Amino acid sequence: MDQQEFAGKVAFVTGAGQGIGAAVARQLRDAGATVVATDRNPDVVERYADAERITGLSCDVTDSAQVDAAVAQAEDTVGPIDVLANVAGVLAKGPVSSFSDSDWRFTFGVNTDGVFHTSRAVASRMIPRGRGSIVTVSSNASGVPRRNMAAYAASKAAATMFTKSLGLELADHGIRCNVVCPGSTDTPMQRAMWEHDGGGPEPILNGDPANYRVGIPLRRIADPDDVADAVLYLASDRARHVTMQELYVDGGATLR
Ligand SMILES: NC(=O)c1ccc[n+]([C@@H]2O[C@H](COP(=O)([O-])OP(=O)(O)OC[C@H]3O[C@@H](n4cnc5c(N)ncnc54)[C@H](O)[C@@H]3O)[C@@H](O)[C@H]2O)c1
Repeated sequence: MDQQEFAGKVAFVTGAGQGIGAAVARQLRDAGATVVATDRNPDVVERYADAERITGLSCDVTDSAQVDAAVAQAEDTVGPIDVLANVAGVLAKGPVSSFSDSDWRFTFGVNTDGVFHTSRAVASRMIPRGRGSIVTVSSNASGVPRRNMAAYAASKAAATMFTKSLGLELADHGIRCNVVCPGSTDTPMQRAMWEHDGGGPEPILNGDPANYRVGIPLRRIADPDDVADAVLYLASDRARHVTMQELYVDGGATLR
């Protein structure tokens, strides 16, 4: 790969305060982009205070006014956005029979509404320029039923189909929209799940027949960089003829 293939480009990343979003922001920067790294957690500003070509910006994707303002600020200060990476996401687990209204709305507010808010704000600016690439980080749970994860899986399936439909709308304008579907990836979100369920990564690697869950054929939990690699590929000109696609990065866990 050309190490500087994003030279001169501007990237806007959501959920960049930690985990996969932080890896995406860092890899885009290392490949030459100037990156606006946004997160609901205001610590994101401090985190990137000394970083070269990465600016941290506090932005909650559930609030469309905040998103519009952050996108405007990014374009005013850094320049026209070439790449949008929708990475912000949340996981609330539990059986449907006792799942609360607030957990359902929280899940969809970030995972689905958030992707709509940022994609609309950025796409409306990309259209007149006739170029751009949008990548949404969904989940392999969007394509396979999971116990205790109905809200999460449904919110990610919605984000996936939204992004693919957007890709059809924007193809005329030279803008590509694709989806990365990670499996279990070693981030604070994943570790919180291990703590919640007990047992660490072993049941995930080995599979859990009682919960109709196969293991991970490649026998490893992904690193955030494994997922970021896929995001960068789809965002890059190497994928110039790829749009409306889903790329599963899950070690084979969904047997697709
Ligand atoms: N880690 C996994 O195993 C895994 C698997 C499949 C999909 N994913 C998806 O990958 C993405 C990144 O996950 P991660 O594991 O790095 O999670 P994480 O919880 O470690 O990091 C998520 C980041 O998103 C931010 N965020 C949450 N709500 C936000 C909001 N309303 N506005 C802006 N930022 C917000 C958080 O502050 C945090 O910095 C998520 O969309 C997640 O659903 C993760």
